[in-house]
Amino acid sequence: MVKIVIENLGRKELLVNNLSNTVLTHLQENFLDWMHACGAKGRCTTCKMVVIDGMENINELTKAELKYKNAGALLHNERLTCQATINGDITIKVPDSGKLPHLTYSD
Ligand code: FES
Repeated sequence: MVKIVIENLGRKELLVNNLSNTVLTHLQENFLDWMHACGAKGRCTTCKMVVIDGMENINELTKAELKYKNAGALLHNERLTCQATINGDITIKVPDSGKLPHLTYSD
């Protein structure tokens, strides 16, 4: 079982155990609203997360992520939640671009 901490949602902690799921799926299975405009197909960047800690516990960049990284749309500390899978604890935050109007963020 590994832990996802979402820093700017009150340091909310999720414990997850199906490590073949993407981070977005973990968030959704825990009833957390997270923007994902293209439906998790790797065709937008709205599902972006900022990785504060645990980047080494995330899979290699996918083809879709590499495309956005090379275009400057994905920074070194950012990943797409619909592309990322994890094998250890991570601490993340919602970037300003992904904040939803009905949620309260702590930054
Ligand atoms: S939801 Fe569009 S890239 Fe992840």
